[in-house]
Order: sequence, then C-alpha cells, then structure tokens
Amino acid sequence: MLSPARFRPFRSFSSWFFIAVLICITISSTSGRTLTEQTSPIKAVNLGGWLVTEGWIKPSLFDGIPNNDFLDGTGLQFKSVTTGKYLCAERGGGTIIVANRTTPSDWETFKLWRINESTFNFRVFNNQFVGLDSEGNGDDVVAVSNSPGISETFQIVKDPNNSNLVRIKASNGLFLQAKSEVLVTADHPEGTGWGNDDPSVFELRTSGRLQGEFQVTNGYGPVRAPQVMRDHWRTFIVEEDFKWMSENGLDGVRIPVGWWIASDPTPPLPYVGGSLQALDNAFSWAQKYGLKVIIDLHAAPGSQNGNEHSASRDGSLEWGSTDSNIQQTVAVIEFLTARYARSPSLYAVELINEPLAPGVSLESLESYYSAGYKAVRRHSSTAFVILSNRLSSDSRELLPLASGLSGSVIDAHYYNLFSNVFDGMTVQQNIDFVSTNRTEDLNKITTSNGPLTFVGEWVAEWEVSGATKEDYQRFASAQLEVYGRATFGWAYWTLKNVKNHWSLEWMINNGYIKL
Ligand SMILES: *[C@@H]1O[C@H](CO)[C@@H](O)[C@H](O)[C@H]1NC(C)=O
Ligand SMILES: *[C@@H]1O[C@H](CO)[C@@H](O)[C@H](O)[C@H]1NC(C)=O
Ligand SMILES: *[C@@H]1O[C@H](CO)[C@@H](O)[C@H](O)[C@H]1NC(C)=O
Ligand SMILES: *[C@@H]1O[C@H](CO)[C@@H](O)[C@H](O)[C@H]1NC(C)=O
Repeated sequence: MLSPARFRPFRSFSSWFFIAVLICITISSTSGRTLTEQTSPIKAVNLGGWLVTEGWIKPSLFDGIPNNDFLDGTGLQFKSVTTGKYLCAERGGGTIIVANRTTPSDWETFKLWRINESTFNFRVFNNQFVGLDSEGNGDDVVAVSNSPGISETFQIVKDPNNSNLVRIKASNGLFLQAKSEVLVTADHPEGTGWGNDDPSVFELRTSGRLQGEFQVTNGYGPVRAPQVMRDHWRTFIVEEDFKWMSENGLDGVRIPVGWWIASDPTPPLPYVGGSLQALDNAFSWAQKYGLKVIIDLHAAPGSQNGNEHSASRDGSLEWGSTDSNIQQTVAVIEFLTARYARSPSLYAVELINEPLAPGVSLESLESYYSAGYKAVRRHSSTAFVILSNRLSSDSRELLPLASGLSGSVIDAHYYNLFSNVFDGMTVQQNIDFVSTNRTEDLNKITTSNGPLTFVGEWVAEWEVSGATKEDYQRFASAQLEVYGRATFGWAYWTLKNVKNHWSLEWMINNGYIKL
C-alpha cells in the first residue's frame, strides 16, 4: 500500500502559496464527487507504449538487443536447400517433423522461445516444442513435448556470408538435416561449406514478429533489461507531459499497465521492477496538474488476446482458462486500487483491456468482472469500474452484468482500421462511417439505467493514402463530435508515437486536432 508520506504531493515545492492551492484542489476533489454525479464526459489520452511496451510506438527501444530479429514469438520457416521444401510439424504437432511442404503456412511456422541470443526453443502450431525423440533412436526430430527441456533446446547458426542461410544445432551437438522429405534427423556433423548440396542448410523466412514487454525484457536479458526499461520509463513520459496535457484541453490519462506491476520490485522474469515507481510519479503529476487517472490493466497473466500489447510471449492466449489465473488477476486489481484509492486523481480502474472472443469465454470474463468489481469496491466507493468489451463479439453482451454494477462503464474501441470494411474507402466515406455507423454502435450500448459508455481508444488514422491536413482535421473532428457523446468520455490512442497521426501530442502541436 502507498503510505501517505510517500504520496505527499508537491514534495519538491517550497512555495506555501502552491501548497495552499493544492490543499484546496485536494479537498474539492476528494469530497466533491459521488458516483451519481459524474460531471462532464472525460477527454483523455492513452499513455500507450510506456509501462507496457509496444515496439511500433518506439522502435528504438529494441535497437540494442543482440540478434534482435530472433525475439520471443518470432515465426521462423525453414526451407531445406536439398529437398527444396519446408520443414513442417506434421498434423500441426504431436508427431514427427517432415520436410515435404512446398508452401509455408501455420504448420510450417516455428515460434521462437528465446533462451539467449543464440539458443532457442521452437513451438509448433499445436503448442508442442520441437525436440529429439527420446523413445526412438534419439536423433529423430519430433514435436511432442508440452514443456521445453534440454532436448528441446537448439542453437541457430547463421552463414557468416548470407544471413538467410542457417543451420540448427541440437542438444546432442549435431545439426538437423533433411535426409529426405519424410526424414528429419539431428545427426549431421559440424563441417559445412553452406552449399546447395548440404542437407543441414536451410533458407530462413520470418513470418510474424512480436515486440512487446516480454520480447524487450527477455531480449535484453536479466543483466541489461532493468537499466534499459528504467531509462525508458524515466524519459518517455515526464512531468512536462502532464503540464502540456492540462494546458491543451485534456482532463485525464488512461495508463496501460501490466500484471507484473503488482509484484514490483521483483516481478517474475523476464519482467523487471520499476514500473510501479513510474506509475506513482504519474499519480503525483496528475494531482499537480489536475488530471484524472484511469488505470487500465492492458496485459493480464497469460495474455487475454495474444497480441504484443498484452505481453503475449508467442501469440498464444491463455488468460481466463483457469480459476487461479483469474484470481491472480483480481489480486492485481486489488493491489492497484488499494495503492491509489487515496489519491484524488484515481478516477477509474479498467479491469482488463480487449479480451478476445472466443479465446476468452463470456462466462470466465463475467466471473472475473464480478470479482474484479468487488475488489475495486473494497477500497474505493467512487472509482468508476470499466469493463472492456470482448473483441469480435456482440457489443451489448456485457449490459446485463454491468447494469447491476453501480459506477460501471462499458469500453468500446473504434478504429477505422484493422478490418477489410475500410479497404478503398474515401475520405468522405470514412467520415460518414463515423457519423452514421459509429453513432449507431454507440447508441446500441447507451442505455438509460445502464452503465456509462467510453470510447477508450480511437485515432485519427485510416487506410486512406495521400490525405491532406484538412482531410485529417475533418476526420478528427467528426470523431470528436461522435465520441464526445459517449457518456463517460473518450481517450485518444496515444500521446506519443513515432507515427505522427498516432501521437496526440504531434496532432495538437501541428494543428490537426484542437480540443
Ligand atoms: C546460451 O544458453 C546456452 C544454454 O544454456 C549456453 O550454452 C550458451 O553459452 C549461452 N550463450 C550465450 C551467448 O549466453
Ligand atoms: C565467405 O566468403 C568468403 C569470400 O567469398 C570465403 O573466402 C569464405 O570461405 C566464406 N565463408 C564461409 C563460412 O563460407
Ligand atoms: C509429408 O510426409 C508425411 C509423412 O510421410 C505424410 O503423411 C504427408 O502426407 C506428406 N505431405 C505431403 C504434402 O507430401
Ligand atoms: C453503415 O450504416 C449504414 C446505414 O445504417 C449501412 O447501410 C451500411 O451498410 C453501414 N456500413 C458498414 C460498412 O457497415
């Protein structure tokens, strides 16, 4: 729990005038709000890519990782130079590895688990790991083990003259070879000239990569990751940003956090400690500049959607499959609410971001939401509790549950992206889609006695190429108008991003958006 002493506001200020002002703000904000009288809808921005890494937001964070094309979850495909065919986990896993496929797809993709820069496990489509067959003659290559041990460990050796050519060294010290299309063994000796006649040489293709928190921390490894991450947390979002937000028409932040924050300062590897201190800083800056904070559990244990932004290791979705996993997540919510309940800036707690259907079932999500809601209420009677809709599901499915939870909010995310619906749409068609279809979507989840509604993520970016500044301005203001009718409010994705339109800071500073 956060002691009042550690949370002393304005501790660096010596001016009594400011302390007096602060006391007034504190008194009015702690005593002023009850759940039934939410004032006006919030205009907020996400602090994406800060406490939960997303490589596309700040690619340079990955620059210092050795062999950074081989991160956890990277999909590799291997074409034998002798058979001319791809390695394949026959039937997707559970049996032998063959070398008889002409086009690579799911069964021909081997997802990396990184041990260190040169040593890996390979996970196949059905989630087994490639290894040596302990039952047979010991050299046959199979995908049968559900957890990787020594015999599932391989080194990838690159041709020093051509990084597209690799050899794979097994735990017995010998190299994999495609003896024939149906026989892959680990018994080729060290020497090679990297020629087309060497059955231990494979042409490498990459299919899919993840750049999330697991990848960056495990990529740097336990010695370097703590410093790299702390430098990132200390510099990516700073006090000046909170000042800027307060001066540019924003009234709050939605802060994505990962489940490991609750075991700071010693989270399980590969995660590193220190993000909790950064969140503490955010709360004191928010208080200083009068901003509201929405804590958003963006990455739940096991990953609730298989994306890098939920810290998936290899694209798999395992959250919600067991009771203990759900209880662990409730404990994270309890920890966070208890820590910040006394801060006047705590505005809402979002229990989980973007769970994906059908991998996350409605049943387990509802049981989690009920328990998570109670955990928040044990510490705060005023914080709103935000329930994120499942991706790829009926947007009204949470209304029956949420209607019984006072102070609850439904979060829906609206992007004119990530769906072929938007392929080839013109500027005007995009704007009409927002005005018509998003209005309908929002109306569907807005009920008189039910939960409030929140557009917790949106962006002024689209599939249109060559759009002018004025096009962007019209698109942004159409969205502001529609999402401004969400009863809880909205949050732009995101404050900072190397891609300009995804950076609200850039959009406002360059006159694309005015609040
Ligand atoms: C990587 O891990 C393997 C297996 O533990 C070890 O043998 C090897 O020395 C390590 N390599 C590096 C570069 O740390
Ligand atoms: C790389 O290429 C150089 C020059 O063609 C050659 O001398 C050398 O043997 C090659 N190295 C390997 C490992 O094939
Ligand atoms: C590849 O080899 C396996 C094992 O013999 C066989 O079952 C499968 O049908 C073969 N697939 C193709 C596309 O040749
Ligand atoms: C948008 O809404 C209009 C009017 O309801 C409907 O005709 C149209 O099909 C919708 N567009 C899409 C892409 O769903």
